[in-house]
Amino acid sequence: MSADTTARPGRFITLEGGEGAGKSTQARLLADRLRSLGHECVVTREPGGSPMAEALREVILSGVAAPLGPSAETVLFTAARIVHVVQTIMPALKRGAFVVCDRFTDSTRVYQGALGKVDPKLIDSMEEIAIRDCRPDLTLVLDLPAKTGLARAAARRANEAADRFEAEGLAYHEGLREGFLAIAKAEPERCRVIDAGLAPENVADAIWAAVQDRLGLIS
Ligand code: TYD
Repeated sequence: MSADTTARPGRFITLEGGEGAGKSTQARLLADRLRSLGHECVVTREPGGSPMAEALREVILSGVAAPLGPSAETVLFTAARIVHVVQTIMPALKRGAFVVCDRFTDSTRVYQGALGKVDPKLIDSMEEIAIRDCRPDLTLVLDLPAKTGLARAAARRANEAADRFEAEGLAYHEGLREGFLAIAKAEPERCRVIDAGLAPENVADAIWAAVQDRLGLIS
């Protein structure tokens, strides 16, 4: 189902993928490109993206909720998503801006659903509650071998401790990669797989080509 673009003339682009794929760098580069053409672009992220959702992010990523299990974590990610959609994403889309979001519902499908084994019915109903007519127009799946992504994530955080999800083993991260690729295969009209192993400027060019192709020539 595509989003109702009359109710919200802006365009909603999400970036998804495993750890260390370069999503936040690419979100910034895409926003720079859109802004250089005179478009308003809001860059945001999940979990987080509004003050209340950022507070929930701290709770979730610290791991204090992990003992409650993946279903409880799904509820927390959904609570953060509801305020993010209401306070940040929808207002921007309604005024005609581009919104570029680092992770969104596909992360819940993969981390909590495919890997966390949360009941797909719960995942679907949480998704419905949180996003309603705020579905992404385009999802860019930044794809990278799990080993490469983990090495990049470790280099990026230097001496800081790995968060709740980065701390999982290689098999888990390979599972994440498969999960995102499966979504892209199932929803080719919404998703584009991007080779995130290229140099950042080449990844940015591939993303720009996908945006132009999916959303029409932007000038
Ligand atoms: P973050 O530091 O933003 O990770 P990354 O740089 O890899 O995007 O932390 C977000 C973590 O939360 C990441 O490990 C993925 C996880 N996550 C979920 O498990 N479910 C979700 O719905 C979302 C949005 C994120």
